[in-house]
Amino acid sequence: LDNGLARTPPMGFNDWNAFGCGVSEQLIEQTADYLVSSGLKDDGYGYVNIDDCWMTKSRDAAGDLVPDPAKFPDGISGTAAYVHAKGLKLGIYESAGTATCAGYPGSLDHEQQDADSFASWGVDYLKYDNCNNQGVPWEQRYDAMRDALAATGRPIVFSMCEWGEDNVWTWGAGTGNLWRTTGDINASYGSMLSIFHSNVQLARYAGPGAWNDPDMLEVGNGMSFTEDRSEFSLWAEMAAPLIAGTDLRSATPATLSLYGNKAVIAVDQDSLGRQGTEVSSSGGLDVLTKPLANGDVSVALFNENASTATISTTAAAVAAPSASSYKLTNLWTNQVSTTSGAISASVPGHGTVMFRVSPGSGTSVGTTHPLLGASSH
Ligand code: DGJ
Repeated sequence: LDNGLARTPPMGFNDWNAFGCGVSEQLIEQTADYLVSSGLKDDGYGYVNIDDCWMTKSRDAAGDLVPDPAKFPDGISGTAAYVHAKGLKLGIYESAGTATCAGYPGSLDHEQQDADSFASWGVDYLKYDNCNNQGVPWEQRYDAMRDALAATGRPIVFSMCEWGEDNVWTWGAGTGNLWRTTGDINASYGSMLSIFHSNVQLARYAGPGAWNDPDMLEVGNGMSFTEDRSEFSLWAEMAAPLIAGTDLRSATPATLSLYGNKAVIAVDQDSLGRQGTEVSSSGGLDVLTKPLANGDVSVALFNENASTATISTTAAAVAAPSASSYKLTNLWTNQVSTTSGAISASVPGHGTVMFRVSPGSGTSVGTTHPLLGASSH
């Protein structure tokens, strides 16, 4: 959506994956505190997003949505003020239907009234779900909220949670800043893999202000460390929103090392805004490439299978600019090497190795992250 927002994929936190309906002001504020103290805010995680179940089961006498006073004693406005004071932005959730998925009042036919509430509370981001839509066509439902948000005059990112229905990618860029391309993710390798397969096909529809959304990150929620690293790598390679879905306050150092990898985040947030594409995919061994603004390319080698395999490609195949030699930086180990064109790595089962490929040469001065071990070269 050409509203000047989300020129790179949104980054932040959302409570749903880890807490379901257990959202609260305390959780949101403690997460905001943690984003600041951990340095994740400085890494780009700027939105703290509230999902379903934040309100009471009925509107008030004026027809306004009411934040649940037990969960949000200071209301959404008080929570927003707290989050803003930390230099962060606040997101909220509603549904383009008569009720949210959890049965709270929906925004269908209340779009302007609710958008006005969000704006008056200081909300910066709306995730707009698809439950209880009564079969009303998407143009009416999502366009109505897009226009209502615009009419408030407040910059509010519009995140459409349409689950990939109605080929949302074909119309999403005119309506929202991001759109879900699939049903809900869960913290399993199979779920992550199937969403990857769907989302990776949709690269041509993504660009600044308009992103395919393969759902929030499950990093830290139960997959193996190798699988978590694959999700983070593949989401970055696909220029996906990086919305942390785990309880960051109690995340392990290993989990935080994934969320906090600046070099991988830089691939996701690259200003060119191109989603990576598959160069090859055969026998469960995938090569992806993503062009970057400075002419480098990011290459992801993903092994879908259970056992370790060598995955190989070339600088020409990944469309690196023509050069006599290339510097390869392994973005998870920081190891640097030089190649005349071959790009290859031994990749653990369910794992991903990620390189930044630059024309020129590098010296092998990189260090291996103690948590990760050598995974290539
Ligand atoms: C369905 C969405 O796809 C989820 O991400 C989450 O927002 C739930 N609804 C909340 O009810």
